[in-house]
Amino acid sequence: MRTRNQEIRLPLLKTHGVSLFLKREDEIHPLISGNKYRKLKYNILEAKSLNHTTLLTFGGAYSNHIAATACVGKEEGFKTIGVIRGEELRTQWEENPTLKLAAEHGMHFHFLDRDSYRIKDTADFLKDLHERFGTFYLLPEGGTNALAVKGCEEILTDADAHFDIIATAVGTGGTLAGLINSSTPQQQILGFSALKGDFLKKDIRKFANKSNWELLAEDHFGGYAKVTPELVEFINEFKNSTGIPLDPIYTGKMVYGILNMVKKGRIPANTIILAIHTGGLQGIFGMNRVLRNKNLPLIEV
Ligand SMILES: Cc1ncc(COP(=O)(O)O)c(C=O)c1O
Repeated sequence: MRTRNQEIRLPLLKTHGVSLFLKREDEIHPLISGNKYRKLKYNILEAKSLNHTTLLTFGGAYSNHIAATACVGKEEGFKTIGVIRGEELRTQWEENPTLKLAAEHGMHFHFLDRDSYRIKDTADFLKDLHERFGTFYLLPEGGTNALAVKGCEEILTDADAHFDIIATAVGTGGTLAGLINSSTPQQQILGFSALKGDFLKKDIRKFANKSNWELLAEDHFGGYAKVTPELVEFINEFKNSTGIPLDPIYTGKMVYGILNMVKKGRIPANTIILAIHTGGLQGIFGMNRVLRNKNLPLIEV
């Protein structure tokens, strides 16, 4: 699966002599888009080869991974179970666009309070899940494991070797690790963290085979899934001037971060950047619900 690289033409880029392209992985599929497709590909093949009939995974209320797993399960004939963070959602999930969509694709939910969710990776907890749901193929939170990284290694192709910088948004770091592994040693791989702090570096090192990367954690707008009117305005302006929609949790913050670096003169003239559009556009609907409740400007769809 190859996706196109679209050039972004903005006055700021021209002024600084920097070229920016977006790899439109968001165009792969409306729900199993971008890195979700890449992360699920080899895991689904593995689940099939092990004769599993159920996929179980974890996620929060707006998780792109939950939506994608539900959808791939329906398309590939698996039952799907979503272990969801937030006991309060048990009675409210129908109002949440991501969970509603997952349920429409057949996902069964198991809601957990935040303390139980925190221990979800322990052996005892997993044993409880097996007692409750029987055998299943386990996809970790965010979908990152060795097979997911292998899938993300297929995002870059030989034709991308001339780019100086490859950029991606970072949640668990699996996508960044895949890009690092298939990059050339001369390329610089920049990860724009959607989370506060740089605790992810350890996880990235676990899967990455080179050290030509950097994790940037400046443009998180207050932390994971935190959105400000400034970010909403940026996403709307970007869509108006380029025609490309960005999501508020990952790609919006990444593109903002890249243009901010250009503005500050941190990218030398003549640099060619390839930023990965990792999809996640379904998250706009849930975020707009939050923004509407707070009487804040909405992301245009
Ligand atoms: C749209 C989108 N972009 C980027 C990421 C970050 O990917 P990773 O978890 O592999 O760092 C995610 C989620 O995990 C995502 O949903």
